[in-house]
Amino acid sequence: LDITFILPDETSVTVAANEGDSLMQTAVDNGIEQIAADCGGCCSCATCHCIVADNWQDKLTPPDATESDLLSNAIEDAQKNSRLSCQIFLDATHDGLVVHVPESEW
Ligand code: FES
Repeated sequence: LDITFILPDETSVTVAANEGDSLMQTAVDNGIEQIAADCGGCCSCATCHCIVADNWQDKLTPPDATESDLLSNAIEDAQKNSRLSCQIFLDATHDGLVVHVPESEW
């Protein structure tokens, strides 16, 4: 699976991801340092915030209540396509996914 991260300086980094991994794990494994993932993926820290490209938003499983709450409570500038990358689990349908990585807020 090819996943593209667009960094705060607009550099884009395309990496090969494994099906079954979370988007957060993929970012961490590839040295995307803005994704701090402090809680290790248990949906409690919000340091894995990313913003899904507009044309991908409808193709992803929507956030559950825990993720939605955390996004609205912990992310000051949350956008409509903000997501917690630890809650996106990759499968074949995600090939070509593009996500923006915001400047670290932590
Ligand atoms: Fe902590 Fe995603 S890694 S909420």
